[in-house]
Amino acid sequence: MSILITGGAGFIGSHFVRLMVNQGRQVVVLDKLTYAGNLENLKDIVENSKTSKLFKLYKGDICNQELVEHIFSSENIDTIVNFAAESHVDRSILSASAFIDTDMKGVFVLLEASKRFGIKKFIQISTDEVYGTAHSGAFKETDALNPSNPYSASKAGGDRLAYAYWVTYKLPIIITRASNNYGAYQYPEKFIPLFITNAIEDRKLPLYGDGRQVRDWVHVEDHCAAIDFLMACGKDGEVYNIGGGNERYNVDVANLIIDELKKPKTLIEHVKDREGHDRRYALDCAKLAALGWKPKIKFENGIRDTIKWYINNQAWWKRIKNGEFMEYYNRQYSHRFAPAKS
Ligand code: NAD
Ligand code: TYD
Repeated sequence: MSILITGGAGFIGSHFVRLMVNQGRQVVVLDKLTYAGNLENLKDIVENSKTSKLFKLYKGDICNQELVEHIFSSENIDTIVNFAAESHVDRSILSASAFIDTDMKGVFVLLEASKRFGIKKFIQISTDEVYGTAHSGAFKETDALNPSNPYSASKAGGDRLAYAYWVTYKLPIIITRASNNYGAYQYPEKFIPLFITNAIEDRKLPLYGDGRQVRDWVHVEDHCAAIDFLMACGKDGEVYNIGGGNERYNVDVANLIIDELKKPKTLIEHVKDREGHDRRYALDCAKLAALGWKPKIKFENGIRDTIKWYINNQAWWKRIKNGEFMEYYNRQYSHRFAPAKS
């Protein structure tokens, strides 16, 4: 039997593919290879004769019903883990259309095919952002959803649609809501890799607003380990928060990166805030802990290793940081930075 990993060429998906093939699991990846999908993230797997025979790639869209049904009818899929998504909040603010397609309609197509062909487990990778801002305390799985940007709203749509297929059709669904991930292979539009790579290049670090927003950081390898754990021990129809237990102010993370790279603090520039910016995310992970799983990687160790990875893998991100990326970067940031003093 095979596990279908959608979005397996992206940041988290590629780590999960690696975890699965290293356990000897047969993996089928369906990935559209959008700007964020990158086969280089899977290079070590494809080039290793042991793992390459456990791996098969379909380049395509999860919204493509015909293709999804073809995969279900020709591969022995018993489990699906849906990572495929448009994943960047700032891009969703610039243009939401692709988010509605992939993060809602795409989930629908996968659920319908799973219902039609039968499946042992469907893991829908949702996000802590569906809860919206945590004004105090930490969100439990039973708390109301209050998404506040097009990305989190479309993810909430996919999250609740998956739940509806459990309630209505008893499709064996598990929904995970992880906090902010960090680690190797993260596309450099996201906060941590953007700040690390900009600092290496002596470019400005655009810190939104006062920088006192809070995110809870979970290392991508911990996140993938938690998903693997839930595939075996999670209960169908349940939602599980996956947090890192590492709440940090953005400004503190920016300073840590600067210190680690021995760069001047003046690289940090406070810029115009993100529209509708969620002030704080925080998860109560007691439900997952009660099952016996806790994250292992301390933020201060994980971030140091991540910085080292970006120092040692400059070819990987320098290939990304041109063309489409720079077009996006200029659109997103050029009006935010103060004009250079002459
Ligand atoms: P990513 O943007 O790095 O990767 C997304 C992958 O999905 C890419 O390989 C892309 O090509 C593929 N994809 C996009 N649209 C597709 C489509 N229509 N059909 C097939 N493939 C498509 O994202 P990521 O950071 O790895 O996030 C993976 C999942 O985890 C997403 O569902 C995201 O919402 C969720 N999540 C992410 C975080 C985080 O901090 N990154 C936190 C919690 C949850
Ligand atoms: P991001 O990586 O986009 O994740 P999310 O918005 O999904 O949490 O951003 C993490 C935090 O960093 C968020 O509070 C926004 C902030 N941020 C900046 O201050 N500057 C930036 O250039 C980016 C991309 C993010």
